Amino acid sequence: MAKFYVTTPIYYINDKPHIGHAYATIAADVIARYRRQQGDTVLFSTGTDENSQKTVQAAEKAGKSLEEYTNVMAQEWQATFNDLAISYTRFIRTTDPDHIKAVTAFIKKVEASGDLYRGTYEGLYCVGHEAFMREDELVDGKCPDHGKAPEHIKEDNYFFKLSKYQDQILKHIEEHPEFVQPESRRNEVLAFIKRGLQDFSVSRPKKVWGIPWPGDKEQVVYVWFDALLNYLTVAGYPGKDAADWWPADLHIVGKDITKFHCIYWPAMLLSAGEALPKTVFGTGFFTIDERKISKSLGNAINPRELAANYGVDALRYYLLREITFGHDGEFSYERLEAVYNSDLANELGNLVQRVAVMITKYFSGVIGDLPTHSHDTTPYEEAMDKYQLDRALEEVWLLVKGLNQYLEEEKPWKLSKTDTEQLAAVLRHAVADLLQIAQLLLPFLPTTAQRIAATFKDGKVDSTVGLLFPKSDTIEETEIKVK
Ligand code: MSP
Repeated sequence: MAKFYVTTPIYYINDKPHIGHAYATIAADVIARYRRQQGDTVLFSTGTDENSQKTVQAAEKAGKSLEEYTNVMAQEWQATFNDLAISYTRFIRTTDPDHIKAVTAFIKKVEASGDLYRGTYEGLYCVGHEAFMREDELVDGKCPDHGKAPEHIKEDNYFFKLSKYQDQILKHIEEHPEFVQPESRRNEVLAFIKRGLQDFSVSRPKKVWGIPWPGDKEQVVYVWFDALLNYLTVAGYPGKDAADWWPADLHIVGKDITKFHCIYWPAMLLSAGEALPKTVFGTGFFTIDERKISKSLGNAINPRELAANYGVDALRYYLLREITFGHDGEFSYERLEAVYNSDLANELGNLVQRVAVMITKYFSGVIGDLPTHSHDTTPYEEAMDKYQLDRALEEVWLLVKGLNQYLEEEKPWKLSKTDTEQLAAVLRHAVADLLQIAQLLLPFLPTTAQRIAATFKDGKVDSTVGLLFPKSDTIEETEIKVK
C-alpha cells in the first residue's frame, strides 16, 4: 500500500487562528482525505510553533506563565482544527519531548558535517517574522507586514553554511520542476538563490526562549531552525522508522514562508544527509481590502465563528473554491453569502432535496436498482494530483450543474402524469449521479458527502437526513415544491 505524508506549517501561538491559517490547513486536509480515498496510508501533521519570542511576549501580556499560556493556546488551535474537520494524525507542539530530541540529534549531524561555525551577527531582527531583515525590505523604517520597527541586535551566534549548498539547491530545483509549486513561487525562489545565498545564524543567546543548543549552555536554537525540523520529528526522526515516512510528499506553506522551506530547509537536510521533500506548495494569501489578514493588522476573522454560522463544509467550500490555489484572493462576507446561496443551497442542496422528495412522493421512497453509468472523473483526478483544488471543485460542479439541467429537460414532475417507467429511470439516474458527486466531494465537504450518501442508502430514501444547506433567510427558497 502506498504512503503519503502531508504537512501544514506549524503556527505561532501568540493569538488564536484566523481564516488565513484555516485555509492552508483545510487545503492539506482535502489532500489527506483524497489520498486516503485513493487507498494510501496517510501521515498528516499540523501543530504549533511555540519556542518563539512572540509566545513570551503574548504570555506576559496575558499575565500567564509560559507553560500555562502555551497549553491554553495549543488547545485552542487544536480545538479549532477539530471544529474544521481537520483529519490530522499528529498535532505536534515544538515543546513536545520527541521534538526536542529530534532537534538535538539533527544539530549534532549538521555539526559533524562541518557546517556550523561561530560568528557575530549584527543587524535588524523582526520579532513578528522571527527573522532578520534587510534595510531595503523596510518601509519608513518599519516591517511592512507587522508595522513595527525591527530591533537592532548584535550577538554571538552559531552560523550555518547555507552558501555551501547554493549550487546543489539550484540544481535540485531546476531538475525537479515539481519541487516548488506553483510555477510563480518557483521563479521567485530561483531568482532569490541566483542573487546569492548567505550563511545564516541558527542560534540565539540564552536570554531568548528556545530549545537548548546541544553542548552550549549560552545558546538556544533559532526558532526557524527548530520549527522546520518538526516535519522530521513527526516522521519519527532520529529513529530508524523515520525512513518509512521521510521524505515528506508535500509541505503546504504560505507564500511568505516558501523561502524558508525551499532554500533553508533543503540545505539543512542536505547537511544532515537526509532526503529532500518531494513538493513544497506555496499558497497565496487571503486579503481583506487588499491587505493580508493578520493578527498584527487587527483584521483577523475567526474561522470557528464562521463555521458556527455557515457550517464547516460551507466555509471549506468557500475558501477553496473562491481563489485559484496558489494565488491571492479577497475574503468577503458578501461572496461567502453568495456562494453559499447559489452553489451550495440552490445548486447542490436543492438538487438533493428535489430528487429525494420526488422519490418519496412517487415511489414511496423506494429507489430500486441503480444504473451502473458513471461520469469520467479523469479531469477531477488530474486536478487533484496537481493540487489544483479549485479546479477539482469546478469539475464536480460541472456534474452538479449537468444534473440540474438534466432534470430541467426531463421534467420528472410531468413524467409522473405520463410515463412512470421513464420517471423511475430518470430518478435513478439522478441518484447514481448524486452518489458519484458525493464521492468526489468527500475530501472537500466530508459531512455533506456523507449526508448525501445516507439520504440514498440501501435503495431507499432516508428523509430524516434533511436539508443540506438551510439558512434562515434562504430556507424558503430552498424548499422544494413538486409541481
Ligand atoms: N511558525 C511559522 C511557520 C513555521 S513552519 C515550519 C509561521 N507561523 S504563522 O502562524 O505566522 O503562519 C503560518 C502560516 O499561515 C503561514 O504559511 C502563513 O503564510 C499562513 N497565513 C497567515 N496569514 C495568511 C493569510 N491571510 N492567508 C493565507 N495564509 C496565511 O509562519
